[in-house]
Amino acid sequence: MLKSKYTPLFESLTLSNGIQLENRIVMAPMTNFSSNPDGTVSDDEVKYYVRRSKGVGMVITACTYVTANGKGFHGEFAGDSDDMIPSLRRLAAAIKAQGAKAVLQIFHGGRMCPPELVPNGDIVSASAVPAEREGGASVPRALSDAEIESIVRGFGETTRRAIEAGFDGVELHGANGYLIQQFFSPHSNRRDDRWGGSLEKRLTFPLSVVDEVKKVVAKHAKEPFLVGYRFSPEEPETPGITMADTLVLVDALADKKLDYLHVSVMDFWSSPRGVEDTRSRIEIIQERVGDQVPVIGVGSIYTADDALKALQSGIPLIALGRELIIDPDWVEKVEQGRESEIETRLNKNDQERLVIPDPLWQAIINRPGWFPGVE
Ligand SMILES: Cc1cc2nc3c(=O)[nH]c(=O)nc-3n(C[C@H](O)[C@H](O)[C@H](O)COP(=O)(O)O)c2cc1C
Repeated sequence: MLKSKYTPLFESLTLSNGIQLENRIVMAPMTNFSSNPDGTVSDDEVKYYVRRSKGVGMVITACTYVTANGKGFHGEFAGDSDDMIPSLRRLAAAIKAQGAKAVLQIFHGGRMCPPELVPNGDIVSASAVPAEREGGASVPRALSDAEIESIVRGFGETTRRAIEAGFDGVELHGANGYLIQQFFSPHSNRRDDRWGGSLEKRLTFPLSVVDEVKKVVAKHAKEPFLVGYRFSPEEPETPGITMADTLVLVDALADKKLDYLHVSVMDFWSSPRGVEDTRSRIEIIQERVGDQVPVIGVGSIYTADDALKALQSGIPLIALGRELIIDPDWVEKVEQGRESEIETRLNKNDQERLVIPDPLWQAIINRPGWFPGVE
């Protein structure tokens, strides 16, 4: 039986559009590198999601690219053409059959795309500035105004496909250094037209994507369909996004009547750099947002007590990423009072039992320190 102290994790939450989440646990979006070469979702991928969708209130899928030049990962499934609707429908149905809400994460990789994955190796971004981080060394080409407009429409088109495929919503991937973030970042956006030049203008692209997606939802969705937005609060580069920039973004997003905001950090309790503040980045954001829109917190939450402590800091929804790969039965174990049986380290013999597709397994095993238990 569920221990009474954990009941806050199992309270339902109704989002502004009327969609009700059964509980406070969300599966974080995680790329699995395992789709078919034609861009369709593979059998292994479907099995991986089925194994993890039971119990959580909402599953946010791996990201899908909205235009061909936005493909950021090998084995990333496609969301850029109507031919992919049956594939997307299969994924949505598999997740929903387990009782969770299914949310498609939509994305463009921008300057982080590997050249071999995009047409003619033509890497694009806000400006011709290469990423300083691992994997992003190509010098991108700055997009033209018309191309930017067309990518904004691409986010809308993929949203329409998500609606037709039966998803409960989309999450705009404005985090982790990809194109939406590249437009908001003073590192990657050096434009001086309407898409850049000041903090306000760097917001033009993210907010245009939000407006376009909301327009498509109003036009095409016959049932409640949620729109969430994920962002990274700070960048390590100089110049780069600071906490102060992020609070301006958060205000603008809160005005857009989204269903949730999702903060992307590796540690829920991490604090801002260079600022004298004892609170974590997520707490600062939560305070700014107040009750305007629910916030999803994430990052190194492994045990039931970790999740409870995070929730009790005032964040209404908690996402689990690596932990749901390590223990797909996390929610069920807490619900049954077996939280002491939750596994928090990956066992190297458990790929099959945990239903982890080969390319994802290889990625995990070959990157020591990423997952607890893999040294
Ligand atoms: C294998 C893997 C793939 C990921 N892919 C994505 C992704 O497609 N989109 C995204 O927004 N975040 C992605 N992330 C980040 C996670 O959503 C999450 O923010 C991060 O892992 C921290 O949470 P955790 O400590 O619960 O794993 C990925 C993380 C992992 C481990």
